[in-house]
Amino acid sequence: MKIILKKFSKNFGQVEVIKDMDLEIESGEMVALLGPSGCGKTTTLFAICGIHNITSGQILFGDRVINNVPTQERNVGVVFQNYALYPHLTIYENIAFPLRIRKMEKSEIDQLVQEYSEMVGISNLLSRRPMHLSGGQQQRVALVRALIRKPNVLLMDEPLANLDAALRLRMRSEIRRIQQETGITAILVTHDQVEAMSMSDRIAIMNDGKIQQISTPTEMYSDPKNTFVAGFIGNPPISFYNGVLQKNYFVGTAMKFELSEATLSNGIQEEQKLEIGVRPEYVHPNFGDEVEGKILFIEPQGRETLYDIELDDGQVIRSIQMGSQQYQMGERIQWGMDHKNILVFDENGENIFSKLYGTSPKL
Ligand SMILES: Nc1ncnc2c1ncn2[C@@H]1O[C@H](COP(=O)(O)OP(=O)(O)OP(=O)(O)O)[C@@H](O)[C@H]1O
Ligand SMILES: [Mg+2]
Repeated sequence: MKIILKKFSKNFGQVEVIKDMDLEIESGEMVALLGPSGCGKTTTLFAICGIHNITSGQILFGDRVINNVPTQERNVGVVFQNYALYPHLTIYENIAFPLRIRKMEKSEIDQLVQEYSEMVGISNLLSRRPMHLSGGQQQRVALVRALIRKPNVLLMDEPLANLDAALRLRMRSEIRRIQQETGITAILVTHDQVEAMSMSDRIAIMNDGKIQQISTPTEMYSDPKNTFVAGFIGNPPISFYNGVLQKNYFVGTAMKFELSEATLSNGIQEEQKLEIGVRPEYVHPNFGDEVEGKILFIEPQGRETLYDIELDDGQVIRSIQMGSQQYQMGERIQWGMDHKNILVFDENGENIFSKLYGTSPKL
């Protein structure tokens, strides 16, 4: 079932939370809505499932406008932040509830409840009541209850927030597998970019009630539209550095290097203010010498080591390098950047035709 939002707006009183949002989600696609707290993710989900009336615009399922269709008739499975289970019913009854409403045979219900609860590791909890489950267990019950009715559309709001790291990893792939096997169109709300990147076909990144960019995870990483997207995607995060264009060079107070042909051929002006964005994997001892400063902080991460380098003007550039720690805190270094993998933004933070081309063979 395709989901389309056309100029969807939502106000709460005087406050405009979503403004003219356009979004199309293909049938069978999983899209992650990613963005900081308060940007309007839950509001968008509530509008799609019918909990909120929308202020203006249209929501369509397929070619049907559903603005005024009540929630029960939208055939939407929901897993919300506060996974509301029925407190007086057992876990079995909670999960079976949507199937009973459909008057399904008892034996068939038994089999489905067993199958789905095994899938997420809660089959030993079926006779308990929700208050006797941990947060993460309740969350899995809510997920199963949403999936078992085979909805046209699955809406998930932080479905893995209460799980420990190992379980979260397992559930990520489980949810994705079920979604792909059943071909449900799904929206996953999260502020965890790793979750968004690993589970979805495309990511819609939101800020302040607006979609900043919608694209595949790879494209989002290598070709972000603006500094907000570039800064939100990527862990450890990208470093930004300010300067101006002078005779083909990017010149900052403590760094200077020649810009690539590709960037220069896009009409930037002499003395134009620029901001470069460099991802930590493209800052390395093998890449030249324009990153000169002292090591401010070191984070050994096992397989890799992360260094924060303070340039002489106080700005910080991050580098991630394979292997164990090779340098000391406070040490002066002169490293470089892989010039074909530097992002360049104008003073409004918009990307000036730059993107990442992939890992350099030098690494
Ligand atoms: N019922 C309401 N009345 C008034 N303002 C609301 C209401 N619901 C949400 N808001 C406001 O709308 C904005 C968006 O809220 P929303 O819950 O959609 O954010 P979110 O992106 O889901 O954030 P989080 O990641 O923290 O869950 C916030 O500023 C919030 O305070
Ligand atoms: Mg929310």
